[in-house]
Amino acid sequence: MRVYVAGTGRCLPPDVLTNADFARMVDTSDEWIVGHTGIRTRHIARTMKNVDMAEAAARAAMENAGCTPADIDMVVVSTVTPDRMYPALACDLQNRLDLPDVFCMDVSAACSGFIYAVDVAARRILTGGARTALVVASEKLTATVDYTDRTTCILFGDGAGAAVLRGDEKEGGGWLGSFLAARGDDGAALHCMPGGQLKMEGHEVFRFAVRVMPEAIEKLLGSTGHVISDCKFVIPHQANLRIIRAVQRRYALPEEKVVVTVDRYGNMSSACIPIALDELNQAGRLEPGDLLLMVGFGAGLTYGAALFEWGE
Ligand code: UT7
Repeated sequence: MRVYVAGTGRCLPPDVLTNADFARMVDTSDEWIVGHTGIRTRHIARTMKNVDMAEAAARAAMENAGCTPADIDMVVVSTVTPDRMYPALACDLQNRLDLPDVFCMDVSAACSGFIYAVDVAARRILTGGARTALVVASEKLTATVDYTDRTTCILFGDGAGAAVLRGDEKEGGGWLGSFLAARGDDGAALHCMPGGQLKMEGHEVFRFAVRVMPEAIEKLLGSTGHVISDCKFVIPHQANLRIIRAVQRRYALPEEKVVVTVDRYGNMSSACIPIALDELNQAGRLEPGDLLLMVGFGAGLTYGAALFEWGE
């Protein structure tokens, strides 16, 4: 049996903050932000709740997959910025989409969350617990951002990405595996207290990212028997263009293979990877047989990678 991506979707809230907007709010400049992060704009959910974005992305993915609510038998939502502590955002989403009484839960693995959520869904499908899973990563990080702290506020945006994963009897292809890990002893480097604001030691997270992304890539590809040059696209978590370019240089990858959205959307935590995936899909840039490598890191500190072979 295999598990493949049957459809993708995304939601970017309509309001946009530019670097010029930040230069009016804190002591910063377009030159500093672009030079240190690569970010130019980010979308922010002024009027939308997290569940509104999750719903829009999920509906788009279901439409793209050609499935109805009755087909969905599992919902996993990755979020660290839910509208409420509980119940799970996945249950709110189930209600919005009028889904049957199915498995619904949230995953809290921060920016690595989509890769974790896909792992949960894919393994449940492969062991017969579900046939069609809705996997959504939806984040309203700006609700936790301190807009007086220039070292963090310029980095983050809001958005949601979704994928419908489906199991069938074909052999090979689809989700080829993942490597997932965490280092809880480094957890203080990026955290948020209940009702509080995001706190980050940027240097520490930067160093962590540059160290663990290659580790995740190599452990995953070692287990699946692939090499990175086989991959059509690498979709890294979008925290900082300098981190993305460091990974690109390490493997001497051509620029066009490494997907970048951070310039337009900033860091949307776990929503970055599925939004980038949906952009590739909607632009018609994915063909059956293409290998896609996703790699992320984030609060936890968590990290991980997943490998897909595209195709129905
Ligand atoms: O999803 C995972 C989460 N996060 C990350 O992956 C973040 C990883 N870290 C980073 O992306 C980078 O460390 C940052 C973008 C957060 C910071 O960039 P940096 O090149 O490491 O800057 P820095 O912290 O070394 O700061 C250099 C200088 C400092 O001034 P002094 O002390 O040298 O006078 C900062 O105060 O730049 C200053 N600075 C700013 N200046 C203008 C920090 N933020 C700003 C700003 N505008 N927005």
